[in-house]
Amino acid sequence: MIFTVAIDGPAAAGKGTIGRTLAARFGFAHLDTGLLYRAVGAKGGDPLAAARSLVPADLERGDLRSQEAGQAASRVAAIPEVRAALAAFQKDFARREGGAVLDGRDIGTVICPEAEVKLYITASAEVRAHRRWLEVGGDEAKVLAEVRERDARDMGRADAPLRPAGDALQLDTSEMSIDEAVAKAVSAVEARL
Ligand code: C5P
Repeated sequence: MIFTVAIDGPAAAGKGTIGRTLAARFGFAHLDTGLLYRAVGAKGGDPLAAARSLVPADLERGDLRSQEAGQAASRVAAIPEVRAALAAFQKDFARREGGAVLDGRDIGTVICPEAEVKLYITASAEVRAHRRWLEVGGDEAKVLAEVRERDARDMGRADAPLRPAGDALQLDTSEMSIDEAVAKAVSAVEARL
């Protein structure tokens, strides 16, 4: 069976949790595509060379989840050649046998416009920054500023900007519990299976 769930949205909206839960529930493979861009940013040097030479071990570095790695990722993600170098792997993953869930910024719009289910998960910048701050600590105002900076870069870039696909189910998790959001996502998948 070929079945793709495309999940897009800004940082800390709940994409990862929803993606992992759907994958476990339906037995689909899961790819957090942000990790690819984080790994390219963390490698340093020429981003295009880093993207072309990415190997699975690069995705297992311990420092990829940091705020700094997120900022570095969003800078290299604005380079069209870097995006192109990472596209084939993501497209193959999406159409693998057995079903796949991919989460990122351009899955429903660019990588997998034919996905069976498209979800756009969002929440206010304040709510997302607060969630991130609960995980990482430090100065909450600084975390909010970084969330806003990354949103602006991801939504404002010319190539594959973050935006909902026309046919995406939009879930705003600002005032919805994660369980509620997961339940809506599960229903959307069940309706298409
Ligand atoms: O989702 P995550 O926070 O790990 O993504 C890090 C950065 O990678 C994002 O801010 C975005 O710039 C970039 N990204 C992207 N396209 C994707 C996934 C992530 O441009 N499909």
